[in-house]
Amino acid sequence: MSAQSRLRLGVNIDHVATVRNARGGHLPDPLRAARLAEVAGADGITAHLREDRRHIVDDDITGLMRDLKVPLNFEMAATIEMVDIALRHRPHAACIVPEKREERTTEGGLDAAGQHNHLKPMVARLRDAGIRVSLFIEADPRQLEAAVVLGAPVVELHTGRYCELDGAAKQVELVRLQKAAALCARLGLECHAGHGLSYGDVGPVAAIPEVRELNIGHFLIGEAIFVGLEPAIREMRRLMDAARGSGTAA
Ligand code: PXP
Repeated sequence: MSAQSRLRLGVNIDHVATVRNARGGHLPDPLRAARLAEVAGADGITAHLREDRRHIVDDDITGLMRDLKVPLNFEMAATIEMVDIALRHRPHAACIVPEKREERTTEGGLDAAGQHNHLKPMVARLRDAGIRVSLFIEADPRQLEAAVVLGAPVVELHTGRYCELDGAAKQVELVRLQKAAALCARLGLECHAGHGLSYGDVGPVAAIPEVRELNIGHFLIGEAIFVGLEPAIREMRRLMDAARGSGTAA
């Protein structure tokens, strides 16, 4: 399998920090989870430093930048505070997500089209620092075109709705994701996808040829309770590779 066609897996470790923060103290350690994820074949680690620090905290980002061998994908809201933090750490990638304090997880995609003036200087500052900027958006042509105008080289398509739906409606959503991924290629955008993916949902998304990376967290951390983190990640990797047609297990 060429490096070009290999689908990368970014493992989101936020919910190890959620469990840690439920008690205070240091355990379980998100850094340990990140190291295990590397061993299990993760191509990158994703962590979302939310404004309210409900899971990942600033010291986690420091530790991840210090210890990780694979790239860190820093998920962040479009705020000056987060841009400054990103510029201090200079992670490999920064994924800009919409963020509301009252939400349980990221709901919906970023309005890249409607927030042009707000986002443009932030994308430029991150890019100028050598950080690969990605925008977490819905599979909507308007948003993809806005990402190009903003100068973001990468978009991550929100798969949350696809994961929540069943039957014909799920199929409709899958086609929307497929069309958006194809449009990414025409527009010169690198296409990632994520949110809500599980063993049951991952195959059809992993099979979309233009998708280059999946970011998966909640399901893997939940599954780790039962089977351990490494086996959970290895199984996800196997399903991704099988869907991609390579059939290789990591
Ligand atoms: N990608 C983005 C941009 C996200 O915000 C999240 C959730 O933090 C994920 C991927 C991973 O989603 P999940 O935890 O549901 O797998």
